[in-house]
Amino acid sequence: MMDSSDQWIRERSGIIERRWAATDESVVDMAAIAGANALAAAGVDASDIGTVLCATVTHPYQTPSAAVEIAERLGARAAGSTDLSSACAGFAYGVGIADALIRTGTSEYVLVVGVEKLTDFVDPSDRSTGFIFADAAGAAVIGPSDVAAIGPTLWGGDGTQTEAIILDPDWVTHRKLIAAQVETPWPRLQMQGQAVFRWAVGDIPRVALAAVEAAGLTVDDLDVFIPHQANMRITDSMVRTLKLPERVVVARDIATSGNTSGASIPLAMSRMLEAGEIESGQTALLIGFGAGLSYAAQVVTIP
Ligand SMILES: CC(C)(COP(=O)(O)OP(=O)(O)OC[C@H]1O[C@@H](n2cnc3c(N)ncnc32)[C@H](O)[C@@H]1OP(=O)(O)O)[C@@H](O)C(=O)NCCC(=O)NCCS
Repeated sequence: MMDSSDQWIRERSGIIERRWAATDESVVDMAAIAGANALAAAGVDASDIGTVLCATVTHPYQTPSAAVEIAERLGARAAGSTDLSSACAGFAYGVGIADALIRTGTSEYVLVVGVEKLTDFVDPSDRSTGFIFADAAGAAVIGPSDVAAIGPTLWGGDGTQTEAIILDPDWVTHRKLIAAQVETPWPRLQMQGQAVFRWAVGDIPRVALAAVEAAGLTVDDLDVFIPHQANMRITDSMVRTLKLPERVVVARDIATSGNTSGASIPLAMSRMLEAGEIESGQTALLIGFGAGLSYAAQVVTIP
């Protein structure tokens, strides 16, 4: 589909294979399956969910939200629901907001779903995005606990770099160009790969360390590291900069899942649990980073 090679893609990104949703499979379809699995694993009834948060940038409707439909599909009829548009940082934003909702008593249980169907918004022939992005959903149920199991969330962004990863052209510009009969590409993700790479390896490890410190820990207390699966070289660089002990299990899901943006952290966590690589009760550092540019990180206890 593009002027590239399997060898180049493996070397530069670590991606060997990834999954594309069926053409008739929606973000809501995928999210509802992940959400139902998370409810079953947590042993929580859908009617006890107070809020559904859906981290996605690929739900094809500006309104209504994906979350309201996901809540309906799952039978979470008492739940408030909203989408979070923080791209690859979206799931970690959701965990931070869920934590606050529970601590303030607004919700007893919160379902956080990360879901993307990036194949609908990526040009498969684009050499900077076509080989990276993929489709997936992951979810977690977050609820009350007698012991702290989610550390403080550190989040932020760099609004001077909005163009580093952006849907371009925007829908209004697209509409104007079509009305003026000017040839225009369809709105699809554009990425300045090198700028994003520099930011991810230069600035993001400091955020990760700050999240560990905010939890009252050091990297020696960590068992698991689950960074957003952006690129294997970014993960490798972070592991070196953070000086993680060798025994820390590192998510390397990108090899078989590609970059699934908001879905990548819960997807990796779920797969690592299923494979027996990690276990419930371990201490994990999560960090999401991407379009915005924006980031969020926290230390959690593996559910
Ligand atoms: C996209 C990315 C893999 C590109 O790798 P890179 O090393 O920066 O590649 P460059 O753009 O510097 O290009 C290097 C060379 O590879 C070539 N190239 C670029 N894309 C290519 C592709 N898909 N296949 C083959 N060759 C490619 C370029 O033409 C260039 O060739 P030249 O040296 O002969 O001019 C890398 O920038 C990256 O991973 N960035 C971060 C992306 C990311 O994590 N995004 C998600 C954030 S949430």
